[in-house]
Amino acid sequence: MSLDGYLGSPTPQRLLMSNDADFDRVEGVRSTCDAILVGAATIRRDDPRLTVRTPARRQRRVARGLPPTPVKVTVTGHADLDACANFFVTGDSEKLVYCTTSAVERARSRLGRVATVVDSGHRVDVRRMSEDLGARGIGRLMVEGGGTMHTQFLTADLADELQLVVAPFFVGDSRARRFVGDGTFPWHPGRRATLAEVRRIGDVVLLRYALSAQFSPGDDA
Ligand SMILES: NC(=O)c1ccc[n+]([C@@H]2O[C@H](COP(=O)([O-])OP(=O)(O)OC[C@H]3O[C@@H](n4cnc5c(N)ncnc54)[C@H](OP(=O)(O)O)[C@@H]3O)[C@@H](O)[C@H]2O)c1
Repeated sequence: MSLDGYLGSPTPQRLLMSNDADFDRVEGVRSTCDAILVGAATIRRDDPRLTVRTPARRQRRVARGLPPTPVKVTVTGHADLDACANFFVTGDSEKLVYCTTSAVERARSRLGRVATVVDSGHRVDVRRMSEDLGARGIGRLMVEGGGTMHTQFLTADLADELQLVVAPFFVGDSRARRFVGDGTFPWHPGRRATLAEVRRIGDVVLLRYALSAQFSPGDDA
């Protein structure tokens, strides 16, 4: 996020917040996960690949009996998603779309060739979705945005760790999306989160917070 807490710019152009060393670190963390999740708006706006591209990291996963790239997961209430988006066409892993019942038919006709569409009821509940992912063998999920997804996982107290990278500039426009929206968070002035690590990575800083007993400092590969 920017110094003023934004995840990007208010314009349709993608704003790269981090530096090369941190993007590489993020890929390292991604390579340790079973699945990567982003909200549907991030797919529409940023068209991210969310793959593991470094050969050594891919090989390490394969040696552990895993696909070279983690499973990709998204959430949508409208299924206004393009089957040609990088999310769906890159990577050799399964793609899961958790979708409200009202949009399931649309999702299956648009995305049925490239993804498994999961009917998730009136509204996708992130706790129930996490349980379903667990039942599918996903033990470690990395949520890579955007703000709507961060807010739901954090307010539901489902995150074991928060990794926050602060970029050295301001966005300065409240039309942009913040790191989180409004909500009741388990960490507040009366219950402070545990700061586990501060790491300088060139001109950005990584803050790691331990949010549950499941946090493991060594998990950041
Ligand atoms: N700096 C970073 O590291 C980073 C990372 C990721 C994203 N971003 C930025 O974040 C911004 C996007 O964030 P955002 O908060 O607007 O969007 P988001 O979290 O990526 O996605 C929100 C969308 O996900 C779907 N959704 C979320 N929760 C749902 C639920 N419980 N049930 C059904 N559908 C649900 C809805 O999709 P439908 O509209 O399809 O119904 C909703 O519009 C972009 O500017 C992007 O560039 C930045």
